[in-house]
Amino acid sequence: MAAELYPTHTPALFQAAVHVAAQRLRAGEVVALPTETVYGLAANAWNPAAVARIFAVKGRPANNPVIVHVGGLELARRCAAVWPDAAEQLARAFWPGPLTLVLPRGPEISDLVTAGGPTVGLRWPSHPFMPTVIRECGFPLAAPSANLSNQISPTNAEHVRLQLGDRIPLIVDGGQAQVGIESTVLDLSGPHPRLLRPGMIHAEAITAVLGVAPSSVSHSLPTEGPLPGPGMLPKHYAPRARLVMLTWRDESELRAQLAGFHVPPSACRVIAHTHIPASLGSENVSLIPHDAEAFARALYAEMHRCDQPGVELIVVEAPPEMIEWAGIRDRLRRAAA
Ligand code: TXA
Ligand code: MG
Repeated sequence: MAAELYPTHTPALFQAAVHVAAQRLRAGEVVALPTETVYGLAANAWNPAAVARIFAVKGRPANNPVIVHVGGLELARRCAAVWPDAAEQLARAFWPGPLTLVLPRGPEISDLVTAGGPTVGLRWPSHPFMPTVIRECGFPLAAPSANLSNQISPTNAEHVRLQLGDRIPLIVDGGQAQVGIESTVLDLSGPHPRLLRPGMIHAEAITAVLGVAPSSVSHSLPTEGPLPGPGMLPKHYAPRARLVMLTWRDESELRAQLAGFHVPPSACRVIAHTHIPASLGSENVSLIPHDAEAFARALYAEMHRCDQPGVELIVVEAPPEMIEWAGIRDRLRRAAA
């Protein structure tokens, strides 16, 4: 099977893609759809057999729960057993957008979605495609990132096609993902909000809305039962080549560090934002602007592009320690683990 690719860049194409995606989803199939963070591998969240297919396509371990996507507040409330004030405040501040709220699960949510746990992760994406399909179908969409388990998340339709093109019937092309890293995951199911996965909506932005700071969760793993949170495997979002984060003041300092890895220059790629190593040759160096939003948007595409056969080492210029970069630092740490 080779996936059919549906473009969406005119209103008529968008509507046609919504129509076929909704048809496939109603039939219990799994399809890849765009969101503003990364592309998602979507199925009817109320159909356990369809959700099971997501796990099979990705090769995802059954103890890792899947986020449920909604197209409005009414459906979100229906998916949760309780809807605390904090959820209402955060939803009003950041939805539609790259924030997932973990809440006690509602009765219609199946065990497969939650990995048997008592909570469900809910998100209303700001990319218009999924919410339009959800309104057309009338059911929410369970969707993890549309990559094979432990691979880099896809930020465009071509990334999805390369990893999953022979495993799913349909990929909708909604353009380059505008946020570029996965959503912030915030657990509101306990007495205090807990940040399970940092993202572009950062802790201080959440604090400003709630009036209290979320605690952040360490990345140690339980030996059984559902994982406490996302990407929670220390190694995740990983390229095939070894990835390291380095800092350097000038090129000789970078070269001295590279020499320590004993990798030929042709097998090395550098992703830089501030200190550009001009003499390494433009084919070996990727530039991303020194701006957290632009960096997040471009990062996975650069990682995909660098991670070619023959490349052994990807060097990323370490991002600054500022709060806006927290989600990016988290993904890079995991990719380097
Ligand atoms: O931006 C995103 O969140 C993208 C797009 C497609 O929406 N989705 C995504 O899904 O990144 P995934 O499955 O790759 O990552 C979701 C993470 C998982 O690592 C999972 O552990 C966590 O969210 N998660 C989902 N439901 C949860 C729950 N009930 N409790 C705690 N963590 C949960
Ligand atoms: Mg993922």
